[in-house]
Amino acid sequence: MFETLSRKPNDPLLALIGLFDADPRPDKIDLGVGVYRDEAGHSPIFRAVKAAEHLIYETQNTKSYVAPEGDQTFLDLLWSLVGGHTATIHASGVQTPGGSGALRLAADLIRGTGTGKIWLGQPSWPNHAGIFSGAGLPVETYPFFDVASQTILVDSMINALERAEPGDAVLLHACCHNPSGAVLTADDWCRITAMIAARGLTPLIDLAYQGFGAGLDEDVAALRSIISAVPEALIAVSCSKSFGLYRERTGAVFAVASLQSASETARSNLVAIARASYSMPPDHGAAIVKTILCSPELCRDWSEELESMRHRLLALRKSFADALAGRWSNAVAIGSQEGMFSILPLSQTEVLKLREKHGIYIPTSGRINVAGLKRNDVARVASAIKGAVSS
Ligand code: LMR
Repeated sequence: MFETLSRKPNDPLLALIGLFDADPRPDKIDLGVGVYRDEAGHSPIFRAVKAAEHLIYETQNTKSYVAPEGDQTFLDLLWSLVGGHTATIHASGVQTPGGSGALRLAADLIRGTGTGKIWLGQPSWPNHAGIFSGAGLPVETYPFFDVASQTILVDSMINALERAEPGDAVLLHACCHNPSGAVLTADDWCRITAMIAARGLTPLIDLAYQGFGAGLDEDVAALRSIISAVPEALIAVSCSKSFGLYRERTGAVFAVASLQSASETARSNLVAIARASYSMPPDHGAAIVKTILCSPELCRDWSEELESMRHRLLALRKSFADALAGRWSNAVAIGSQEGMFSILPLSQTEVLKLREKHGIYIPTSGRINVAGLKRNDVARVASAIKGAVSS
């Protein structure tokens, strides 16, 4: 059987981790995969996560299976954080292995309706297309961001979505766009929401960086207004970054509808898809999130630590944009983008030159993980980029 297969290439973003690890240079810099790092270059465990793990260790008395939909208390608490308390919206969730698991269940659900395609912005997180086509969902694209001019292409996006048909889904990033960091204005969100509602499209909103953009509530403001303007939506939530639980694979997918029966029917389908795939979700990360969100003290500590990360990231972003000034006319835009990423107008050759000559690792797309910078690295990285581009 295996002789019928051809070898698949490694995922380029994940392969970059191995290349970085194998590089013996002590001053190498990893700006590849999206993890938050502190000034020492470590991806820290939140204080509240450690405290919650301790409590779980002390009190957990079984490792028996969790329910197929996961832990309902975790889902309720997570939904309060994401959706707030809107009485007219019904959200039924399923705990998933990370945000990717949530996206895959959502994709399988859309595919199961037999009608829709999914519309994906360009550029987007590289794995979006893989997850959707892996589910057999036809993928169409809309322009979203022009890397050379660092501008959002809202008019082109809306024009492209004019071709979408009722029943199609549209992938949107709730905040901290990956890979561009580009920030839609309130007016942009209104136009996008109006077009989605008018054409009968279903938003699939990817929320992977809540708390890293403008703040915990601010980062879900657009999401909350879209879901109150459309009859149905799907929300894929990742706890990887917001709780620093990357390897615990913690997330959830929520089917949101104005009718409770509709959201519950959608959830029953999501549960059936999960059962036929991995049965039930891993527990540990969700137990941590539940323990934090249940405790006012842990919750306060977690949100304060997250807020300090956000402020550090903003300062890094600003100094990086300042240090790049003069290289590109619109490098200044990088300073007003948000979240972990920006995407620079670098060619593949320039990216490889940065890697080989300076030990600076970024993917060939030119995406840079600003959260991987240290204050002392900013000038060196900016100068290497300027050199790589001009030589
Ligand atoms: C990223 O974009 O770097 C992260 O979401 C990690 C991943 O799985 O790609």
